[in-house]
Amino acid sequence: MDDALALMIRHSPAQRTSARLALLALGGFLLMLFSGCKLADVFSLSGPQSTMLTGGPVAKSQWDLFMVTVYVTTFIFIIVGTVLAYAQIKFRAKSEAEEHVEPPAEAGHGNPLVEIGLIAGSVALLVIIAIPTLKGIWYTHDVPEAEKADALDVTATGYQWWFKFEYNTEKIQTMMGEQNLATGNELIVPAGRPVRVQVRTVDVIHSFWLPKLAGKVDMIPNRPNFLWFKADHPGYYYGQCAEYCGDSHAIMRFRVIALEKDDYARWLANQKQPARAVTTADASRPHVEFASLSSASVPPTGPGSTLTGSPTSAFQEWQAKQLPSANEDPALIAKGRKLFSEKTCISCHTVRGHEGIGITGPELTHVGARSTIAAGVLENSPERMHQWINNPNYFKPGNKMFNGGYTDTDTGQRKFTLNDEEIDAIVAYLQSLK
Ligand code: CUA
Repeated sequence: MDDALALMIRHSPAQRTSARLALLALGGFLLMLFSGCKLADVFSLSGPQSTMLTGGPVAKSQWDLFMVTVYVTTFIFIIVGTVLAYAQIKFRAKSEAEEHVEPPAEAGHGNPLVEIGLIAGSVALLVIIAIPTLKGIWYTHDVPEAEKADALDVTATGYQWWFKFEYNTEKIQTMMGEQNLATGNELIVPAGRPVRVQVRTVDVIHSFWLPKLAGKVDMIPNRPNFLWFKADHPGYYYGQCAEYCGDSHAIMRFRVIALEKDDYARWLANQKQPARAVTTADASRPHVEFASLSSASVPPTGPGSTLTGSPTSAFQEWQAKQLPSANEDPALIAKGRKLFSEKTCISCHTVRGHEGIGITGPELTHVGARSTIAAGVLENSPERMHQWINNPNYFKPGNKMFNGGYTDTDTGQRKFTLNDEEIDAIVAYLQSLK
C-alpha cells in the first residue's frame, strides 16, 4: 500500500508547492470555522437579503438543512485532506534520484475491507443528509396541519416587473362587484401567523423569493404553485424575483411587512376603505410648494435601487408613511386627481372609490402609504415619485407604463406629455392616498 501511495504522489516541485499552499488555505479555513466566527459575519453576508440570518421557521428549516450538508461535507473534506496531506509529506521524493524512480508493479486488487468500509461510510453520510432533507421537504411543502386553520391565504401574481398581492379572504366592493383586497409590491402580514402564498404569473416565469422567510418558488404560466412562510417577529423583509424574466428582472422586488396582530387588524381595516379624498384645507398646516420639488432636487440614480439603510429604519419609514402628510394641499390634490384621469393613468391603475379602474398596473388605492414605488426600487418620496413619473423607463427599462403607456409601441411616438407642474399635482394626489 505504501508503494501504491508513493506512486500516486510522486510530484514535481511545483506541484508540491501547490499542495503546501492548499494545506495552508485548509488550515486557515478550519481555524476560522472552529474559532467561533459566525459564517454570516465572516463572509459579510448579514445584509437585508441574507439567507443566513433567518426571520421565520421555513427559512430556518432551509438554513438548517444547508448546514447539515456543510458539516457532512466538511467532515469528508477533513478526512480526505488529512490522508492526502499525510501521504504527501510521508512519501515525498527526498532526492533527485527518487523523483525518477520507476513506479512499482501493481501488487494486487486492493484491500476489500477498506473498499467496503468506504462504501458503507459514504452511504451512512448520505443517510445523515437524506433524513433532514426529507423532513425539510415535508415541512416547507405546506403549512403544518395544526396551523392550517390560522393561515392567511394570499395570492401573489408576477407581472413584468412587479408583484400583485391579493388577500383571498378579504372581500371588498368595487365597480366590478365583489373582489379580493389587493396591494402592489408590499405584502402586509400578521407576525406569528402562517401565510400561504399561491403563486401565479400573467406573463413569463417569475420566482417568489423572500430570502429571510422562504423561497424560492417559481411563478409559472398556467401552473398553480404555492409556498408558505411565517415571520417570527414584526419587521420589514426584502423580497426579490429570482427567475430571469426580462429587462428589469434584477429590479423586480417586493417587501413583506410583518405587523403585530392589532396593528395588522388596523392596517387591514384602513386598507379596505376606498381611496381617501382630501377636500378641505387644514389652515393650521403649512402650505407646501409642490412645484419646488423639481426633479433636480434629488440626483437621479438609476437604473437600480436608491434605497439605503437598515431594515429597521425602513420599517420606521413605512410606519411613518401610514399617516397623512402635514403639508397636504387640497387644491393641488384635486388637480392631480383630475390629471390622473385626463392623462389616462386610470386605464391601467385602480384607485378604488375614485376614477381609476385599470388592472394592467399596480393597484394605487393606498399607494401613499407604501414605503416603496416602482416594485421596491425607489423610496416612496414625492421627489422620487416625480422622477419616476417623469421617466419610468430610466429607472425600470422596458416597463409597460412607459412603453405602451407614454409612448406608442407601434409608432414610437409619444402619446402624451406631462410637464413638471402636472407631475407635481399627480404626485400630491398619489401621496395623499393613505
Ligand atoms: Cu420577474 Cu425576474
